[in-house]
Amino acid sequence: MDENKMDIIASLAKRRGFIFPGSEIYGGLAGTWDYGPLGVELKNNVKREFWRASVWERDDTVGIDAAIMMNPTVWEASGHLEAFTDPLVECKTCHTRLRADHEDELTRHMDEHRAKGESATWTEPRTFNLMVEARLGVIEGEKDTVYLRGEITQGAHVNFKNILDTTGRKLPFGVAQIGKAFRNEITPGNLTFRSREFEQMEVQYYIRPDDHEAGRWFEYWKERRRAWYIDLGVKAQNLRFREHAPDERAHYARSAVDIEYHAPFGWKECEGIHHRGEWDLTRHTRYSKTPLSYFDEETGKHLTPWVIETSGGVDRAILFFLLDAYREEQDEKGRTRTVLALNPRLAPFKAAVFPLLRNKLALVEKARMLYNNLRSRTARDWMGPIAWDDRGNIGKRYWAQDEIGTPWCITVDFQTLDDETVTVRDRDTTKQERIHAEELGDYLADKLG
Ligand code: GAP
Repeated sequence: MDENKMDIIASLAKRRGFIFPGSEIYGGLAGTWDYGPLGVELKNNVKREFWRASVWERDDTVGIDAAIMMNPTVWEASGHLEAFTDPLVECKTCHTRLRADHEDELTRHMDEHRAKGESATWTEPRTFNLMVEARLGVIEGEKDTVYLRGEITQGAHVNFKNILDTTGRKLPFGVAQIGKAFRNEITPGNLTFRSREFEQMEVQYYIRPDDHEAGRWFEYWKERRRAWYIDLGVKAQNLRFREHAPDERAHYARSAVDIEYHAPFGWKECEGIHHRGEWDLTRHTRYSKTPLSYFDEETGKHLTPWVIETSGGVDRAILFFLLDAYREEQDEKGRTRTVLALNPRLAPFKAAVFPLLRNKLALVEKARMLYNNLRSRTARDWMGPIAWDDRGNIGKRYWAQDEIGTPWCITVDFQTLDDETVTVRDRDTTKQERIHAEELGDYLADKLG
């Protein structure tokens, strides 16, 4: 299954409404994706889990939400206009542009030409800037070039003084953010893995400028972020750390480690932990002429904090959660059951409600009432939506919910009419238990704990 697992996931994502190609009816726009009705629930759940773990559960972080478009000098100061580049080569035969540092892509491209009896040679590599430009202003000819942010990071650093002034935070402290970023990727691909518009989730953690502190917090955040993926269901054996070689590091990084996921297309970066040192704050101090320093009450002096950053991709996390959760099982009759064993906290629907038979009015009415009550309870308590299904037979409904990861299916049957109990069927074990209808809300709240 591994080789075609990406095709399977892409097809399921499209068919069931998780992820659609962007602008599809116009032939698409390479590197853009739209999240459908189920995808947006999954995405919001992933972002909420990040926010919970990075802001709500901690007393040393705050959140922000900065603008996508920033004064262009931000990107000069941050070094992105000069150094945020990838090496590009062009195939002399078909003029396809590819990443010079992605050997697997180059080899595949060569092989395709060779199979057709053609030769394939490359131009010399040249550097290609990834920043996406936009034109801002109302008068043609007087519009200014701005950039759609290439990383969400700078929104935190340019607000360093505002955050200190308004919160009075003491070192160490973190600034968390989730938001869109844009990159002119040379070769977008592997579904949402490399897109041109994507979302990032980050913590910029400000610490004292000291090697021991940096080492300690770097290790702390590596472990903490890896544990976040495992807590949400990713198998530990599918994650590993990979340290960047010095010539591979981004221009702002003193050291960098990737959390990688074992995808069907190889071990791939899921999130980066970077020691950014004083790079951002000193550069913005110099370019903006606004001192971005911290007054140290212990020494009575100003210092420039260092930054340990955790930077993950929301879309990559979603892709890896889907890949990791997907499984096919044979039942006793040899039929294949497809299960998306997502952590219930991430699952788009928290439960589905069915009447046993759609042509028995008493069952349908009872199930509808129960569905409406449960839906308002789970909506009120931020648990998530509940699905309704009365098509086909129960077995088919179970399997349709398994394929989209719904953890529990609730069936109203004839016994319900007598004693108000329903069956609750578990997605992973397929076992059923009978519980009182009134307890359903607490049952879900408890399970989602
Ligand atoms: N602020 C640091 C920074 O942006 P990065 O390693 O360039 O570091 C961080 O990006 C994360 O953003 C990556 O680990 C990845 O999950 C996600 N990401 C980067 N480029 C992406 C792309 N083209 N498509 C989807 N996700 C991307």
